[in-house]
Order: sequence, then C-alpha cells, then structure tokens
Amino acid sequence: MTSQLTVEQAARFLQAIGGAPREALPLLRISVSELQKQSDALLELGDVLEQKAEKLAQELIGNGAENSAEVIKLFTYLIREMLRNTPEHAGCDEIWFGARLEPAEGAVEIMTLDEGCGVQASLSHNPAHRRYITNGQKALAWAMKAGISKSFQPAAGQRSQNPWANSGFGLFMISEISRLLQGSFTLLSEEDYVHVDAGGTRFGKACFHGTALRLSLPVEKKQVTGRYALPVESAQRLISQALASGEAQAKTIRNAFKKASLPSRGLMSELGIEGIGEEKC
Ligand SMILES: Nc1ncnc2c1ncn2[C@@H]1O[C@H](COP(=O)(O)OP(=O)(O)OP(=O)(O)O)[C@@H](O)[C@H]1O
Ligand SMILES: [Mg+2]
Repeated sequence: MTSQLTVEQAARFLQAIGGAPREALPLLRISVSELQKQSDALLELGDVLEQKAEKLAQELIGNGAENSAEVIKLFTYLIREMLRNTPEHAGCDEIWFGARLEPAEGAVEIMTLDEGCGVQASLSHNPAHRRYITNGQKALAWAMKAGISKSFQPAAGQRSQNPWANSGFGLFMISEISRLLQGSFTLLSEEDYVHVDAGGTRFGKACFHGTALRLSLPVEKKQVTGRYALPVESAQRLISQALASGEAQAKTIRNAFKKASLPSRGLMSELGIEGIGEEKC
C-alpha cells in the first residue's frame, strides 16, 4: 500500500479487515477543545470525555436492547477509553467517531480515528520503551499489553496522584472485553495494523497518518421480544473481570504499571469513594 488513506478510507479499511464490508459508517467530528469550551470549566478532560461518551453510547444503544442500562454503561466505558487516547497521546485535537448497531447483521461496531503522531512515535518518546519498540508492529503489540504506556517511568514506580493519569490499561481493557464478548478488535497506526478475534491475532500493512481503532461486538436479535441482546448482565462485573486479567498480565512485564488507574476500573460517575481509597493503596 503506497498512498496515504484518508480518514474515510481508513474507516472503510478497518471495516474490511474486520470482515464486514458493509456500508461506510458516517463519521462524526469531535473537536476536543470545542468540547471542553462547551463544558463546565471545572471538569477534568477525562470527565468531559466520559460525559460525551455517555451521550454517544445512549444514542447508539437507545432502549431497544435487553438490559439497556448495563449495555449503555459498558459502551460509555469503551467509548471513553477510545476517545481519551487522542488528546492524551496523539497530539491533535480532532477525533473522528463512528458507531452503528445492526441487529439484522448481528453486530454493534464503534470506531475512533485521529490524524496524530501514531502509536510507535508516542510510545518511543519514552526511553524505557524505545529499546524494544523498534517498528510499528511491535508498537501495536506492546500498546495492547496491560500496563504499557508512554507515561511509564521506571524510577517513579506507580503513577502520579492525578486519577486520570495514564496506567497503560485502556487498549488492553478494550481488547480483553472484546475477547470476553467474542467480538473483534482492530488497531491501525501508520503502516501497520493488528486484528484480534476468535480466530487469533494477525498483523498486516496499512498506510494511514494517524491511529484508528475499531471494535465490533456480536448482538443477538430476540425473536419473541424483537429486542436485541448482548451478554452483559453487569457492565462493572465484566470490566472487573477484564481488569483482573490485566493486572495479572502486568505483573509479568517489567516496564508495565502494575495497577490500573481508577478510571480503568470503571466509570468515574459510578465508582464510589471506596474505589478511590483502594487506588491510593
Ligand atoms: N491515538 C493514539 N495516538 C498515539 N499513540 C497512542 C494512541 N492510542 C494509544 N497510544 C499509545 O499506546 C499507549 C497505550 O495506550 P493505552 O490506552 O493502553 O494506555 P494509556 O492511554 O497510556 O493509559 P490509560 O489508558 O490507562 O489511561 C499509550 O500510552 C500511547 O503511547
Ligand atoms: Mg488510554
């Protein structure tokens, strides 16, 4: 592949990799600075993005799902983690967001794209990672591991006191939740992509100046009620299950944060004061 993909072409490419070359997803432009200007000035960027993610999740899921409230919570969490990575790592203001629920096709898909610096450039800013992250494919493989973040500093041990400080769990959590729900996850950055589904993990070549992420989860149309269902009884339980695998994996990686940040543990709007105490331990 030689010519650079536009944002729309990259979105189509992601869909094709996922094996679902349906109609193109309409993409919504989100300017992070505009979003912040429109929000309460006292809110942290993470909180602003969580609120935006909740609106997007509500629009996506509506009330046609069984157990809609839990499904909306889960998608709020997933969309928030996807949105955050652009302002936190890509060095650009614009996020492109696409989402569609197609019960007839048995899937719900969400994607984010940005035209920022890319995963390898971001991670290899950090001297602790630069030695072994020597190409785009390795960058994607490492970025998906639990605890791997451009913010890791071996000497500093755990993260800063800011609850929104990165802990390197975002991409791991999205891919692990996808695995638990038998979905598919595709991460594309600059000249490489990685696709993970029940069939395994495969890498391929791309040509996009920036980073794009697509998640597709299966949904089941219920014949009797006409509603659709995802196997999500409790969003928090699913997040906690993925988190436990992540913290177990992070323990085995030298340059990884060993504990996930508070936001990685769930929705900030839902986590109680006990969660904060636990975080400080
Ligand atoms: N859109 C992006 N553009 C550039 N680099 C990215 C992007 N998304 C992720 N990365 C890189 O991949 C790393 C891992 O991302 P991940 O979301 O897993 O963790 P994090 O964002 O560092 O921490 P957390 O998600 O726990 O706040 C990031 O630290 C960053 O270096
Ligand atoms: Mg992140």
